[in-house]
Amino acid sequence: MHNSILYSEPLIRKDFTFPVSKDLTFNRNTQPNKTRISMQKGGSDSDGREFKSAEEMWREQVGEDQSKKTEWYREGVGYWEGVEASTDGVLGGFGHVSDADVRDSEAFLNGLLSELLPNAANSQRHLVALDCGSGIGRVTKNLLIRYFNEVDLLEPVSHFLETARESLAPENQMVSDMHKATNFFCVPLQEFTPEAGRYDIIWVQWCIGHLTDDDFVSFFTRAKVGLKPGGLFVLKENIARNGFVLDKEDRSITRSDLYFKELFRQCGLHLYKIKDQKGWPQELFAVKIYALTTELPKKVHRTRSKVQANRPAIIK
Ligand SMILES: C[S@@+](CC[C@H](N)C(=O)[O-])C[C@H]1O[C@@H](n2cnc3c(N)ncnc32)[C@H](O)[C@@H]1O
Repeated sequence: MHNSILYSEPLIRKDFTFPVSKDLTFNRNTQPNKTRISMQKGGSDSDGREFKSAEEMWREQVGEDQSKKTEWYREGVGYWEGVEASTDGVLGGFGHVSDADVRDSEAFLNGLLSELLPNAANSQRHLVALDCGSGIGRVTKNLLIRYFNEVDLLEPVSHFLETARESLAPENQMVSDMHKATNFFCVPLQEFTPEAGRYDIIWVQWCIGHLTDDDFVSFFTRAKVGLKPGGLFVLKENIARNGFVLDKEDRSITRSDLYFKELFRQCGLHLYKIKDQKGWPQELFAVKIYALTTELPKKVHRTRSKVQANRPAIIK
């Protein structure tokens, strides 16, 4: 079994030659007309078929009419409905990477909490998180519930959400009763609007590839109302070396770093911090964690791994 969440890029790739500016950083100097180039870049699907642009791919996959889009989402959720509710299931057979994933996420989260929410450390702030596309609650159980007083989970696949509800029930929890999973929303991201001002962090991991570009922008734009003042989004995702890779089986796309940055710009979000996942198996897509704010950060933090991004290797 495979799904694009952790599956690597097709072995045969031909890079297109659009003049992408190499020094694009997502900050106050970013110019829309430069970053838009990333959207014009070509990509491929999981069979190695090439598309000249993301636009061409989206036109084919979801078109203009609602019925094709409905089918895109029905097949995406349908794929996950056939997957076992286990760590191995939600990680496409790569359950063994869960510890490394949680370890790096925890270091990233710790940095954010101490920099942005300083009162969090001495428990003076009641912290609330939303785990989007939560699956069986792996991220909540192993990470978020230890740091946040309340965590809400959003997941469109009911058997995943029920497994999460069970494993996060107070009697199955190792955390104190000051920490709990509160709400379990069985809806897809493209149909969700959070309660105003509820969340310190909205965590979106390995699920945004299911959303079309339009719904990506619309979701983050809507979801800003769900953040408390000073709150932020964390997006952890697979990264394509160039352009995008479409997975026809689970109806998702893996976007490049530039592609993401262009979408962040369209959402009116600012990149506060970015980090590469370390200790990752060679055969998998590279993974990045982005922290995004609604206000322009005073300073853009960049945490670089020793391994250079976009080096010429299959897994990137
Ligand atoms: C690879 S799993 C990741 C689960 C979890 N985030 C984790 O890291 O363990 C992808 C998840 O995205 C969910 N998903 C699929 N389509 C979605 C959508 N439109 N909105 C929100 N979640 C979706 C799937 O049901 C699945 O639980």
